[in-house]
Amino acid sequence: MLLEEGLAVIEGGGEAVLGRDDLADCLRRGPSVDEPLFRAASAVLSRTVGPWVFVRGIVEMTNACRKNCYYCGLRSDHSALPRYSMPFEEIAAAIESGWAAGLRSFLLQSGELLGEPHIALVEKVLRWADESWGDSVRMVLSTGELPRAALERLKAAGGGRYLLRIETSDPVLYAKLHPRDGLHRFEERIQCLRNLRKGGWQAGSGVLIGVPWQTEESLAGDLLFLRDFGIDMCGMGPWIEHSGTPLYASRHEAPSRERRVSLTLRMIALLRILMPDINLSATTALQTLTPTGLERGLAAGANVFMPNLTPTRYRLDYNLYEGKTVVPDRIEDVLDRMSARCAAMGRTVVPGEVGDPLHFTKAPPVYSPPGEEGVGDHDDQVH
Ligand code: 5AD
Ligand code: SF4
Repeated sequence: MLLEEGLAVIEGGGEAVLGRDDLADCLRRGPSVDEPLFRAASAVLSRTVGPWVFVRGIVEMTNACRKNCYYCGLRSDHSALPRYSMPFEEIAAAIESGWAAGLRSFLLQSGELLGEPHIALVEKVLRWADESWGDSVRMVLSTGELPRAALERLKAAGGGRYLLRIETSDPVLYAKLHPRDGLHRFEERIQCLRNLRKGGWQAGSGVLIGVPWQTEESLAGDLLFLRDFGIDMCGMGPWIEHSGTPLYASRHEAPSRERRVSLTLRMIALLRILMPDINLSATTALQTLTPTGLERGLAAGANVFMPNLTPTRYRLDYNLYEGKTVVPDRIEDVLDRMSARCAAMGRTVVPGEVGDPLHFTKAPPVYSPPGEEGVGDHDDQVH
């Protein structure tokens, strides 16, 4: 079946299998594929998650990181970057400001730190949120690869969701984007994602789109990896240059910024088609590269956006990439503006919903109790 025919079948509610070649072909095509692709993804979206747009308030707890990824401004070798760590009181106050504005889900984000003070702080925040609001709130973590024992502690303290981007499913590309120093191992990252699922977390992942040397085949492989792993949530965004990182020198090997935006929107649409019931976010990186990134992401099949609750004075230092704008803004005003923009395209922002991914609630993972070593640990399969 031709790609366009397949997309029309999907739009109409029928079955059409998009294989690796179709996915790569779709990513390679000229602009004429966008309309049928986004129409198909929108149709899938309205049949599953519907018009609702979930909201997560982000708190960037610390910009310290033990890793050294070649693309990221928070890398430990980026010594020009002033480092900060928000104390518990400031993190709690940021979350409370979001709660007062009606948000019911919060993302705690940081670089990767394994030290006890950091884990204990995250644990304290989770416990506090759990004691304050119990099941009315959903706390999401995005704090890098943590050992199983730390994950178990954080789960017991009230953690429910975890985001760990694999960045790419291609081990060769992964090796080009990360130092070979024992800290950045592709297999360990995948294993951590497996541990999250086995530990009963709602597990999210995602990839970087438009990095140097990445091919459409590789991106097609990413989509199949995410589907076969059975992630519950996904955030994927375009790579954005940062002059303080090693990858900057290879920026001419990357697609244009416009092409990165286009690839990101197509990746969102294709993943929505492959995984109708996951939560998929319109990322900040996408919104950084195009002022209408929110609308375009939602129109392509995203159903989540994440306003920033980090105090303004820290925000510029959470400097993953260049061009991040920091406008001092009340969360209430941000929500009003976002709600109006979504309403203008027939979508409804529901900040008061915890917004569990249908993919998770419909098919809960098998929980391996702590201490039961080896369940699925040694399987070579990703699933
Ligand atoms: N451009 C876009 N996204 C980036 N990230 C890190 N550096 C960049 C960059 N230069 C993303 C990675 C990481 C997340 C925290 O931020 O995907 O997982
Ligand atoms: Fe650290 Fe994450 Fe940046 Fe890598 S991408 S340097 S792990 S913050």
